[in-house]
Amino acid sequence: MAAVSASAPGKIILFGEHAVVYGQPAIAAPLTAVQVTATAEPGAPGSGLVFYAADLGQTVAVTEATPDNPFFNALIYPAQVLLQHLRAPTPDLRLTVRSTIPIASGLGSGAALATAIMRALAAALGAPLTDDALNPLVYEVERRHHGTPSGIDNTVIVYARPVYFVRGTAPQTFAVARPFTLLVADSGQSSPTRLTVADVRDLHDADPPRLDALFARIGAIARAARQGIETGDPDSLGPLMDENHALLRELTVSSERLDRLCQAARDAGARGAKLSGGGRGGAMIALVDETKIAPVTAALGRAGALRVLATRIAGGP
Ligand code: PMV
Repeated sequence: MAAVSASAPGKIILFGEHAVVYGQPAIAAPLTAVQVTATAEPGAPGSGLVFYAADLGQTVAVTEATPDNPFFNALIYPAQVLLQHLRAPTPDLRLTVRSTIPIASGLGSGAALATAIMRALAAALGAPLTDDALNPLVYEVERRHHGTPSGIDNTVIVYARPVYFVRGTAPQTFAVARPFTLLVADSGQSSPTRLTVADVRDLHDADPPRLDALFARIGAIARAARQGIETGDPDSLGPLMDENHALLRELTVSSERLDRLCQAARDAGARGAKLSGGGRGGAMIALVDETKIAPVTAALGRAGALRVLATRIAGGP
């Protein structure tokens, strides 16, 4: 067997995080500037399945599969889910995994790792998976990370296209009539999505009508944003991003740092800004004209961003 490689991009949520868990629409796009790559090579007979986490210089075998193994969720569990799906015994393979997606920063590192690992493993076993077959398997892994994921992360990462997503329905792709640029900043604060999702759940349980009204407003923003993107009016997204961020603040999932980064981006000329993903840390995004990429990037750096990437949202079904 020759070595086989597979990769998966990161992702950003443009609109609708958290409300999407409660059935509202959300919009997400792949972030191809960061990627996970998994390469499967034959191992010695009897070696079993061994991962090499190249960025960390560490090796871990599937035989070490206990939930308290630090690599369990990210590396071992996706392999187990795939082997179970294929009803395949543990193969003698070495899987080298490399990632440029920061962990726990709302950029989809968990779903991208699972996607790349399952793709490489399935191909090495001579049973490559279609995206439609892979998506529910990555969702299964996401459930382990998050408890009650909406499914948006695995969907945008597996299909690697902008998606309009409503929980429990087939993902819809849509045309980006006029491409636009987003800056993506890593706040440098890591924040597990599981916790913010649980806190929003508690808020919801304490006052369902208030929270349902907030979710409905976020849903209306996502619908309006889709229309702006499809009709070639991306500038209309700026105010929608600001409004979505304000609503996320009401859901208590922003942080001082995220608020500061959003304000710094707006002050430096961004058309709008919001946190992206689970919140309380992780990533934020800002909509910028080409001429504002440099000043807004610099302002985000001064406001504490660890790293800023520019990504162009384009394409269609
Ligand atoms: O994985 P993150 O941090 O980008 O967040 C996912 C988006 C949430 O809406 C907060 C949760 C979900 O399952 O959709």
